Amino acid sequence: MSKEFIRRTVRLSSSFSDQKPGTSGLRKSSLQFEQPHYLETFVQAIFQTLPGLKGGLLVLGGDGRYGNMRAIDLILRMAAANGVSRVITTTNGILSTPAASNLIRIHNAVGGIILSASHNSGGPEGDFGVKINAANGGPASESLTNAIFDASKSILEYEIIDMPPINLENMGKYSIDGMSVDVIDGVEDYVDLMQRIFDFDQIHDLLKSNFSMVFDALNAVTGPYAKRIFEELLFAPYGTVRNGIPLEDFGGCHPDPNLTYAKEIADLLIHGNDYSFGAACDGDGDRNMILGRACFVNPSDSLAVLADNAHLVPAYRDGLVGVARSMPTSAAVDVVAKEKRFSCFETPTGWKFFGNLLDSNLISLCGEESFGTGSNHIREKDGLWAVLFWLQILAAKKTSVAELISKHWLKYGRHFYSRHDYEQVPSDIAVQLYERMESMLPNLQGQKFAHSNIYKADNFSYSDPIDNSLTKGQGIRILLDDGSRVILRLSGTGTQGSTLRVYLEKYSNSSQNISLDPQLELGSLILAIDDLAEIKKRTGFESPTVIT
Ligand code: G1P
Ligand code: ZN
Repeated sequence: MSKEFIRRTVRLSSSFSDQKPGTSGLRKSSLQFEQPHYLETFVQAIFQTLPGLKGGLLVLGGDGRYGNMRAIDLILRMAAANGVSRVITTTNGILSTPAASNLIRIHNAVGGIILSASHNSGGPEGDFGVKINAANGGPASESLTNAIFDASKSILEYEIIDMPPINLENMGKYSIDGMSVDVIDGVEDYVDLMQRIFDFDQIHDLLKSNFSMVFDALNAVTGPYAKRIFEELLFAPYGTVRNGIPLEDFGGCHPDPNLTYAKEIADLLIHGNDYSFGAACDGDGDRNMILGRACFVNPSDSLAVLADNAHLVPAYRDGLVGVARSMPTSAAVDVVAKEKRFSCFETPTGWKFFGNLLDSNLISLCGEESFGTGSNHIREKDGLWAVLFWLQILAAKKTSVAELISKHWLKYGRHFYSRHDYEQVPSDIAVQLYERMESMLPNLQGQKFAHSNIYKADNFSYSDPIDNSLTKGQGIRILLDDGSRVILRLSGTGTQGSTLRVYLEKYSNSSQNISLDPQLELGSLILAIDDLAEIKKRTGFESPTVIT
C-alpha cells in the first residue's frame, strides 16, 4: 500500500438502527447525518449489499446541498477500501438525479449513489439524503433498500482509507489505493442526451420569436444544466435562468417547484405579463413545474398533454408504446391513451414502480401528480426534459400554454384535480386517522359521498406485470359512481412527523370547464372527506399546509 493511503477498520460499540430507507433512499436531517459514524454505517451497508460493487463501477454525485462534498470524500475513501474498481464523480460534486441515471446507463455502472434529499430544504438545519440507484439507472427496488437496511442494523465496523480529499474543482483522473476516480463534467452527457431527444433548432426559433421564458433553478442543482441548455445552446437571454448557482442551503428556499414553494416564479407568470412561459425544478432536478401566462399546468394534465403531443418530439416521432401514471395522479392521461389506443398502467406512488414497465418496453412515458414526468430515455423522472418537451410542443404548434391546455380540455374533458397536504402532523395522530379510515373501508360501499355515491372503497395494491410482485397498502381510495375519486396517503418522504396527503379528482366534459376554479369544483369532495376522515378535528389543522 502506498504511503499516503492508510486503510483503517473502524469498530463501533453499537449499530444505528433507524436507517430505514424511504421511497428513494435514506433521508434524514443534516444533524442526524452528522452523528459520528452515521453516514459511514449506511454507506458500508450499501457496499455490502449492492450487487457487483466489488470490482465494479459506481457513479457518485449530488445536488450540491450542505453535506454533499463531505459525503463524496467519505464515499470515495470507503469505496476504495471496499474494493470498488472505479468511481465516476463530477466537478464540485454537482450531478442531478436524471443526469446520474443517464451516467449509470451509458457507462454500464453497477449503480449510483446520489446525495440529495430531493425537494426537502437543505443546509445544517435542513435535510440530507443518500439515494441508491441500481444498474438500470433507476431508484433501488424495495427489496434492495430493505436488504441495505437489514445490513445497516448489524454493522459494527466499516472500512475506510485515510487521505486528504481529492480536488473536485476541476475535471481529472485520480487513483485511490488502486481504485480509479474520474472527475467529469456532470452536465455534458446529460445535455448531449437532450440534444438527441429534442429538435433544438426548432426550440431556438421559438425563443427568438416573440416568446419569452424564465426558468427558476431555486438555487439548486439544475442551475448549471439550465444555463448550458437555455442560455448557451438555445440562446435565451442571459438571466433567463434565475437562482442558477447551486447553494448549500438553496439560499434558504425550499426547492420544491409548486405554487407554494416556488411562489416567486408562479407570481411572475400568473399575475405578471412579462413572460410567455415559466418553469422550475426541484433540489435534485427530477421534478418540474410548468407555467404559462396566467396559467398553471397541473402535473397530471401535463402528462396528458405530453402523451397527446409526443409525436412532435423527434425521439417519440414513431408514437408511444404505452404510458403509466401513479395511482393518485389524475386519469387525464388515461383518456388520451384510450383515444390514441396505447396501453395505460396505474402504479403505486414512487418512480421505482415504473422501472419494470420501462425496462420491458411496455411504456414510453410516465408521470406522477407530484410534479414528476419522464420517459424511457433514463430511469428517473426528469425536470429539464419536461421543460424542453413543453417548449418543443409550443414551438411545433405555435401556440401558448393556456391555449394548448384549453384545447386539450375541450377535446378530452377536464379532470379537476387538487392535492391537499397536511405537513408535520404528529405521527400518532396521522396514523390513527389513517387506520380509522382503513377500518371503515368495508362499510363504505353504497354510501352517499359529496355529490355522488361510493361504488368502491379500498386500499390500493399493485401486482407488477413483469415480476408479479405484489405491493399492498398504497393508499385509501374512495371511488364514486360518477368517476370522482378521493385518495388518502401518508407520505413516505417526510422527515418530521407525518404528512397526510389528500388527492381529489372530478371529471367533467362540459365546454364551460376552462374558466372554472378546481378548489370550487372540488368543494363538495373536500367537505365530504373532511367529514368522513375527521381531518380538521383530529389534526387541529384549519387548512392544508400546501395546496396544489
Ligand atoms: C413524494 C411524492 C411521490 C414521489 C416521491 C419522490 O412521495 O408524492 O409521488 O415519487 O415524493 O419524489 P410521498 O412523500 O408522497 O411518499
Ligand atoms: Zn427530486
